[in-house]
Amino acid sequence: MHLSDSILINDFCCANKEGSLPLQNFLKRHAHDNQKRKLSITWILVQKSDPHIPLGYFSLACASIDVEDLNSCDTKGCPKYERFPALLIGKFAIDDRYQMKGLGTQLMDYVYALTIKLSENTGCRYLIVESKPTSAWFYEEKCNFIRVRELDGGNILFYKNVITLLSE
Ligand SMILES: CC(C)(COP(=O)(O)OP(=O)(O)OC[C@H]1O[C@@H](n2cnc3c(N)ncnc32)[C@H](O)[C@@H]1OP(=O)(O)O)[C@@H](O)C(=O)NCCC(=O)NCCS
Repeated sequence: MHLSDSILINDFCCANKEGSLPLQNFLKRHAHDNQKRKLSITWILVQKSDPHIPLGYFSLACASIDVEDLNSCDTKGCPKYERFPALLIGKFAIDDRYQMKGLGTQLMDYVYALTIKLSENTGCRYLIVESKPTSAWFYEEKCNFIRVRELDGGNILFYKNVITLLSE
């Protein structure tokens, strides 16, 4: 569900892993405001039995990716654009107490479903994420994103081709 006032964001803990505190702080301090300003929309994972407690969340925003960052097989047949439309996973986190239980993978399936739905109404050829090095395994090994390069600041750019997503 979308982030709303009914979600108890102060219950969300994500501080155990190196570099994860900003993800906890984003939900508590900035997600509502960003959503109001249409800068990012935040989706919350909850249990049906306790729909106010956030188990995890992700935030999405419109973005684009440079053609130079894409493998040639992923632009085959496309016009020679310099940039291609994309959906950015700006934030993605599971509460420390619920990690390694398959929820991250489950939440990513939901991101894929939203991406496919969006791509039916708006040009959106790639799903992209700038991952912390410590979470790169999740995108690369668990979710089969394609690793592009290290960005200034140390995060790693990954993408997934929406056409591939449709055939998965
Ligand atoms: C990264 C994160 C989203 C993953 O979510 P999760 O719910 O913990 O992950 P899942 O339980 O779905 O997947 C864990 C799987 O990866 C495997 N795994 C764990 N560490 C691994 C590693 N270093 N390399 C490869 N696989 C690993 C586990 O064995 C498990 O495999 P299984 O599903 O076959 O049992 C979550 O740990 C998290 O929020 N971390 C802190 C915040 C963060 O780094 N977010 C990413 C923002 S860039």
